[in-house]
Amino acid sequence: MKETLQEIALYYKNQGAPSDQSALLSCLREAQQACGGMLDAAAQQEIGAVLGVKPTYLQAVAKRISDLKLSGASHTLTVCQGVNCSREGKSIHRYLEDELGAKPGKTFLGGKWMYQTVGCQRACRTAPNVRVDGQLMTGMTLERLKEILQKG
Ligand code: FES
Repeated sequence: MKETLQEIALYYKNQGAPSDQSALLSCLREAQQACGGMLDAAAQQEIGAVLGVKPTYLQAVAKRISDLKLSGASHTLTVCQGVNCSREGKSIHRYLEDELGAKPGKTFLGGKWMYQTVGCQRACRTAPNVRVDGQLMTGMTLERLKEILQKG
């Protein structure tokens, strides 16, 4: 993911970002898409390093743009809520929402993780699927997820 974000940021740097606001916004949108719908603190750091700006600058820019979602969380957990992943991943959903109190679009575990949900990722055969910082992780188990959340 780090390399992908660097590639995206470098491309838009060559297009004039960050001084060219249009190039900067395109950069943030593309990076957000690559990260699964939200730019967490690590992603902001990567992009900022390439563009030569602080993450706080990127957050200030994003605040004015409704389709940009930047969070202060270190990591983003995106859980597929399609039919197959919901059926196969009941224990994961229960753990996140009932035990940890995670709510879509909000941080959890002390602000360390951002929780979001998405529809079917077209990888139903390997359900349940989640994305960790935008990276697809198939056949997720509750035990594996707990390990990931602890390490994060
Ligand atoms: S339901 Fe999750 S990938 Fe299809």
